[in-house]
Amino acid sequence: MEKTSTNGTVKFFNGKQIPLEMHKAKVVQALNLVPVERRLAAIAEAGYNSFLLKTSDVFLDMLTDSGTNAQSDAQISKMFIADEAYAGSQSFTRFEQSILQVFGKKLVLPVHQGRAAENILGKSYVKEGSVVPTNYHFTTTLAHIMLNGGKVLELYAAEAMKVKSSHPFKGNMDITKLEDAIKTNGPENVPFIRMEASTNLLGGQPFSMENLKEVRKVADKYGLKIVLDASLVGENAYFIKVREKGYENRSLGSILLEMSDMCDIIYFSGRKVSSSRGGAICTNNPEVFNSLKFLLPVYEGFLTYGGIPIKEIESMAEGLKETIDENVVSQSPTFINYMVQELEKLGIPVITPGGALGCHIDAGQFLDHLPQTEYPAGALISAFYIISGIRGMERGTMSNNRDEKGNDILADLELMRLAVPRRVFTLSQIEYVIDRLNWLYKNRKLVGGLRFIEEPVLLRFFIGRLEPLSDWPQKLAAKFRNDIGESL
Ligand SMILES: Cc1ncc(COP(=O)(O)O)c(C=O)c1O
Repeated sequence: MEKTSTNGTVKFFNGKQIPLEMHKAKVVQALNLVPVERRLAAIAEAGYNSFLLKTSDVFLDMLTDSGTNAQSDAQISKMFIADEAYAGSQSFTRFEQSILQVFGKKLVLPVHQGRAAENILGKSYVKEGSVVPTNYHFTTTLAHIMLNGGKVLELYAAEAMKVKSSHPFKGNMDITKLEDAIKTNGPENVPFIRMEASTNLLGGQPFSMENLKEVRKVADKYGLKIVLDASLVGENAYFIKVREKGYENRSLGSILLEMSDMCDIIYFSGRKVSSSRGGAICTNNPEVFNSLKFLLPVYEGFLTYGGIPIKEIESMAEGLKETIDENVVSQSPTFINYMVQELEKLGIPVITPGGALGCHIDAGQFLDHLPQTEYPAGALISAFYIISGIRGMERGTMSNNRDEKGNDILADLELMRLAVPRRVFTLSQIEYVIDRLNWLYKNRKLVGGLRFIEEPVLLRFFIGRLEPLSDWPQKLAAKFRNDIGESL
């Protein structure tokens, strides 16, 4: 079928440049905006941790894009032809074909989600004393590397930590630091170099093809493998197309294949790439495949279902193919870009340029009256939920572990992430987000800090519970009620 590729934006006759949805709604879920009084109670019940809120209390769920992207009619229809078999399923063969088409890799291990791939890679390659250079860590990756006795070296370029930037590729790895790290630690202690596409914790920022080529050169020089975390790879390929010279006329499919060709092992969270479940590890190296595959039946399931229902394998297979469709992949970045531009006009500190997966508000600046030990990003999430019913995710000090002495490891960036899953929200819902952020920014001094009252040692942000350091939530809610006239 011939179609126009819009890059998600169409020029309007009146000169406006706004994102245009290249899909229509066929099935919808009703939303509920509970009154501010209930939101105040709900966030307290959730221990001021947005992960512990119930969706019946949430209006716009911007916690994550993991497993929450809208699925296409093609994906859903493919689920009906799932070949439910313990072993040798035809659905798995179709999944292999999609992986070959999208990543050019022939050998595939399905897993139940992204961190399961990290578990298998961590157990196979990381040992006491290992160091893993990466453009930036992701929470679950770090946990698996640490649990196996390894250390992560974050070799991002200086630009990555600048909130306001026009650098198109803030997810690039610093090549000089990479070579120094390999020399200092010895290549024998580097099990692989990890590149993360559209670096999640840097605000969804991509790396360039040029940078990946440089990393490949260093890897070849020292005989090292490159592992690509491809959870957000479609968006990274999209950014290469629209931001990197020489790629403007290339298809996303050909860009993805060029990227993949430089990587020895690719893994991804299917929940982010294309479906509500799953993930995979893939490679063209039979030695790698054979060394990893024995762990699959131990941790996941048989080699052809990887611990998830076969219908989800079908959905992933179809969704992966949509990852090379510009009209699909551009949707979230163009909405995020719109939000970023509108928030900047209002003077609200936001990570620029807009990246993948969500809009990232700089909570450090937004709440510059709070020290990092009072978790400004966590406090901002709670405050924003109270005044809007919108649930975001903390990506700051709360998302870090403590050091050996029990002190907080202060995050490089204190971010409130407002995820924009693919094809889920409308532009008027995005306008509501912007409006409520505008109100909160004007009333930001009312927001106080938080402290932990229940705190797991690892990944504490998931299930840890906190409390406010004063009665600021009540005061904030009262001011909001007074200004906006809610109860809604
Ligand atoms: C870059 C990256 N890697 C790995 C993961 C882990 O994937 P999952 O949540 O499917 O376990 C995620 C999840 O958000 C991610 O963003």
